[in-house]
Amino acid sequence: MRVINYGSLNLDYVYQVPHMVREGETLAASGMETFLGGKGLNQSIALARAGVSVCHAGCVGEDGQVLLDYLKQNGVDITWVQRVEGKSGHTIIQVDASAQNSILLFGGANRKQTAEQIRQVLEQGEVGDYLVLQNEINGIDAIMRYGKEKGMKLVLNPSPINEAILNAPLEMADYLLVNEIEGSAITGEPEPEAMVRVFRKRYPDTALLLTLGTAGAIYADEKELVRQEAIRVKAVDTTAAGDTFTGYFIAGLLKNRPMAEIMRRCAAASALAVSRQGAAPSIPKKSEVEEFLLLQDR
Ligand code: RIB
Repeated sequence: MRVINYGSLNLDYVYQVPHMVREGETLAASGMETFLGGKGLNQSIALARAGVSVCHAGCVGEDGQVLLDYLKQNGVDITWVQRVEGKSGHTIIQVDASAQNSILLFGGANRKQTAEQIRQVLEQGEVGDYLVLQNEINGIDAIMRYGKEKGMKLVLNPSPINEAILNAPLEMADYLLVNEIEGSAITGEPEPEAMVRVFRKRYPDTALLLTLGTAGAIYADEKELVRQEAIRVKAVDTTAAGDTFTGYFIAGLLKNRPMAEIMRRCAAASALAVSRQGAAPSIPKKSEVEEFLLLQDR
């Protein structure tokens, strides 16, 4: 069984700010660093660091060698990442004094998947393979439909929310992974409990993972509902915490671990990510997660 992650690759330009810049305001940043990121890349790195063999598909631009090298160094198969003309995807991320972020995303090469590339990638898919998707690339609707036709298990993180993803066949996903903002945009409900009810009713064949930041996370499918508290750490930068959760979640599914155990490992992995700066570099290895969990048990 293979895991194919068809997703974005970004250069993240990260600025430390006292607060998020307001309309009309000019604000001085106290620091700036460039990190490798993109929800797609982060999730592939999280899968790899959780011990899963993963094949990444997507596009980088002429400046994208650094992204390819990073995936390769981390053991991710990059056979299906194409180089295209123009710039790679990039973001401008503000991280404020309370470690929260706001992200401005430029799609760049991530928006250049062709029908031909989609066909070539998904031709590799077999029944039971996992297809991991986010919403930072073009062609999500077609990728979902093709993946489903091939009998792949669809894991969709519909982020960022836009018109296209709201019109995509979300009911085809085997797993929907959303945070509270995405959950609210999809269901129209402000409260987590109500979101879960709407998701379960509207997408009865789709398992839900709702992450709630410091309020933890909820997993719900037709058989069980599992709540997980967040593990408290000194937060430095919340970027990629959700992506870390996603990678460790899929790793747990592949290992057939009980859901409560999967959720606990995910909470530990994302707590470690939050305590470090940047996107991909903040994602912990399996051994670090296990050590951290042992410390929690003491
Ligand atoms: O989820 C975090 C990621 O979102 C960042 O790495 C950034 O690239 C944006 O895509």
